[in-house]
Amino acid sequence: MPIANRTLGVLISGRGTNLQAIIDAIAANTLDAKLNVVISNAPDAQGLDRAKQAGIETLVLDHRDKAKFASRDAYDRALARELKARGVELVCLAGFMRLLTQAFLSEFPNAVVNIHPSLLPSFPGTNAQYQAWEHGVKWTGATVHFVTAELDGGPIVLQETVPVKDSDDADTLASRILDTEHRLYPKAIELLLSGGWKLDGRRFVRG
Ligand code: GRF
Repeated sequence: MPIANRTLGVLISGRGTNLQAIIDAIAANTLDAKLNVVISNAPDAQGLDRAKQAGIETLVLDHRDKAKFASRDAYDRALARELKARGVELVCLAGFMRLLTQAFLSEFPNAVVNIHPSLLPSFPGTNAQYQAWEHGVKWTGATVHFVTAELDGGPIVLQETVPVKDSDDADTLASRILDTEHRLYPKAIELLLSGGWKLDGRRFVRG
């Protein structure tokens, strides 16, 4: 089923270059979507300025504010409420550094996606680019996947490979992966919004 109103919410914690790629793809009409809100758990996230500059509503939900969010579930419920209040249909995590619980995920069934800088299921978790470089793989890449309660473990939507060169250090590799991410994420979102896909078990299949 296509996603009717093509409305997105992006969750960030930091610099927001993937958010920027989404904003740019919408502006360039390669992604037909409306970005209704950008939410950060970190008040100082650079991505908030990117959103403001593009005229997109921003919100900070600081998970450290225990007066507002007594538990992880309370935080996740508040997050879901803010997204729903803004008509968000597809939630895109872009460097959002928190695990989401079932309290959140059950509000957006098969409608929360993430981008990860490796070819999952290899190298989940933080520092995936360094993990791949240090392991000595010859190919790594980027993955867009559905978010489940398992860290970086949901069904895979799209992947793209990136070669690891002998001359690479972890930083040069990370920067090539990042360029790939910026291409891949808007493409995956467009695919998800357009429909014509289904989940067969954990296999994302088109047609
Ligand atoms: C990206 O490498 C993304 O794959 C990972 O976190 C990083 C976020 O970078 N989940 P940015 O904030 O989009 O620049």
